[in-house]
Amino acid sequence: MKILVVGGGGREHAIIKKVKENPSVTEIFALPGNGGIAADATCVNIGAKDIPAIVEFAKSNSIDYAIVAPDDPLVLGCVDALAEVGIPSFGPTKAAAIIEGSKVFSKNLMKKYGIPTAKYEVFSDAGAALKYLEDAPIPTVIKADGLALGKGVIIAMTRDEAKNAVLSIMEDKVFGESGSNIVIEEFLEGPEVSVLSFTDGKCVVPMISSQDHKRAHDGDLGLNTGGMGTVAPNPYYTEAVAAECMEKIFLPTIKAMEAEGRTFKGCLYFGLMLTKDGPKVIEYNCRFGDPETQVVLPLLESDLLDVMISTTNGTLSADAVRFSDKSACCVIMASNGYPEHYEKGFEIAIPDAALPSVYVAGAALREGKLVTSGGRVLGVSAVGDTLSEAIRASYSLVSTINFENAFYRSDIGKRALMAKEIK
Ligand code: AMP
Ligand code: GLY
Repeated sequence: MKILVVGGGGREHAIIKKVKENPSVTEIFALPGNGGIAADATCVNIGAKDIPAIVEFAKSNSIDYAIVAPDDPLVLGCVDALAEVGIPSFGPTKAAAIIEGSKVFSKNLMKKYGIPTAKYEVFSDAGAALKYLEDAPIPTVIKADGLALGKGVIIAMTRDEAKNAVLSIMEDKVFGESGSNIVIEEFLEGPEVSVLSFTDGKCVVPMISSQDHKRAHDGDLGLNTGGMGTVAPNPYYTEAVAAECMEKIFLPTIKAMEAEGRTFKGCLYFGLMLTKDGPKVIEYNCRFGDPETQVVLPLLESDLLDVMISTTNGTLSADAVRFSDKSACCVIMASNGYPEHYEKGFEIAIPDAALPSVYVAGAALREGKLVTSGGRVLGVSAVGDTLSEAIRASYSLVSTINFENAFYRSDIGKRALMAKEIK
């Protein structure tokens, strides 16, 4: 089978390494891929948002199955465009990807179908939003409607901060047109859990739970990033919580999308907060998480490609998705300065023994050598019998990898370990 993977980050590298395990795979193309992915797939310099070029490439290379990993091409309708030329793919249609593409859509969906989430109001007019904020409860959360590279969320701790957030999103358009509409929502508290799930539109099969570390620095300080590390499973996500989520969130969401004529197939990511009033949805993503994928897939025992194809064909079954009972930890090695300004172009030295554990996010090939080319450079993942073993193993691999200006958090998994002790 000839496989095409759209995207070029650590998540895509993890997907590619796992898909390669399927014996029927003869060739994998990554569009655009990256310098590290080039070791595992043929990278082709076509951008993940260039849908006509992706479709043309898939057609002329007789691709059997495509995996559309990032949010942008999904929201732009890449899966639909490939289907039009007869190429099946993993991922939701444009109509279903709106669950991530529009926060207004997802909030209204949850309200209509009684799915637990933070209380909210939607505004398309800055004046009305400012007036509402006069006596809204503080802290409050302001979200731009559309995709904003994970940055469209502002947690305002004071009324002034909230008002400034409204002005910068709606008037100064700091997140572009994604800020024409905003959601102002109730501030929730509790541990966060990421649950990725496979779904064929009717059946939903949660993957092993995970925990992201979004802030740049140790102790959850500093700016929000795309994610500085992950662990799986998430100790807060007990069997009782999982059962409650299935009943009140996962199944109702899949059914709601079907009832809306937007049947969702692919990976639906539930960003949850476990509040004192039960689990609530913080966000939906229409795709695998990054770097959640880098801890979830190493624990998947079933064949990833077979499961993916079953979501497309509508033949997914819970029995076909098995996870190991081990733990995994992924530490992101970033460029110092990320998520703001950072230098790139530094050579990366990875010992051969570490290569199987490395998922390359932001690196390019220069004269045959791997050099840094992004903020998040590598994800280093290890599996262990226990969470502390996985953490220790991944940091021990990190210590063998070198590049100038390397920066990483030293406390990935620390909170999860503490939670395990408390229980
Ligand atoms: P998102 O981009 O929607 O994942 O939001 C980024 C982060 O903001 C989440 O991971 C949460 O930590 C935080 N967040 C989002 N919504 C809320 C909320 N209603 N209450 C508290 N924190 C939130
Ligand atoms: N790690 C968060 C995300 O993929 O959205």
